[in-house]
Amino acid sequence: MNNPVLETLLETLTPIYGKREAENICKYILPEAVKWDKTQQEDALRRLSRSEPWQYVIGKEWFYDIELKVTADTLIPRPETEELVHLILKNHTSQNLSVLDIGTGSGCIPIALKFNRPTWKVQACDISEKALKVAVENAKAYNLEIRFYQDDILNTSQNQNEKLDIIVSNPPYIPIEEKDLMHENVLMYEPHTALFVENKQPLIFYERIALYAKTHLNKGGHLYFELNEYNASRVKNEIESQGFTDVTIHNDLMGKQRMLSAVWQ
Ligand SMILES: C[S@@+](CC[C@H](N)C(=O)[O-])C[C@H]1O[C@@H](n2cnc3c(N)ncnc32)[C@H](O)[C@@H]1O
Repeated sequence: MNNPVLETLLETLTPIYGKREAENICKYILPEAVKWDKTQQEDALRRLSRSEPWQYVIGKEWFYDIELKVTADTLIPRPETEELVHLILKNHTSQNLSVLDIGTGSGCIPIALKFNRPTWKVQACDISEKALKVAVENAKAYNLEIRFYQDDILNTSQNQNEKLDIIVSNPPYIPIEEKDLMHENVLMYEPHTALFVENKQPLIFYERIALYAKTHLNKGGHLYFELNEYNASRVKNEIESQGFTDVTIHNDLMGKQRMLSAVWQ
């Protein structure tokens, strides 16, 4: 190794992430780091040494092979959410479907769907105006026509006339009492509105989104959720009790119960 920038990055990252992970992270950071001037480099190293996620430091993450802008206002898209997108793409090959993503964050889900199914009509909403700004920017970077709008799904006033074929959501699902069990770098840097739900109502987003789906899905339309693995069967019961059929839990590549699909008849 004869690259001083790489050496400095590894020195900063190895104590936090371990050697292997630090080397892996450097693959993503180095192409950016070589462009930094002295001040930018110092600033980035200071942020990295405080365990700030590297994706926020370089302002980018890759999702489904698509480079996306991320900021402190957006959750960093996760690999299990790529699996949710993959499940939808695998299950639906028709040309003219209408899709809504609820709680879109960086716009990762609608962007990956529209990228791979350009003829679909894709919409997405979020309560966070700042996250929506980032999502709009991300879609624009790839010339993707996606409608983004602000909405609070727990108090929604949006009534779409046109029915949808697919509703998907990776909603906030971590009970606030589990806060202390989380990694410091998630807790300190990622938006809490994207992560947490009240202890009293851990399934509230699933309940409300399912209610919304019942009036907004076409007959035969599909509902997709990302799950907290510890709540999977409770969410399944809730969705079944609301009258959905074919309610199925799907495991992720780690064998965890992380996705659910259901049909509205
Ligand atoms: C777990 S994050 C998912 C973000 C993105 N879909 C992803 O997979 O990376 C949940 C998202 O829901 C949004 N959200 C939180 N409360 C909401 C509400 N009441 N109505 C609509 N969106 C909400 C948050 O701002 C956040 O972007």
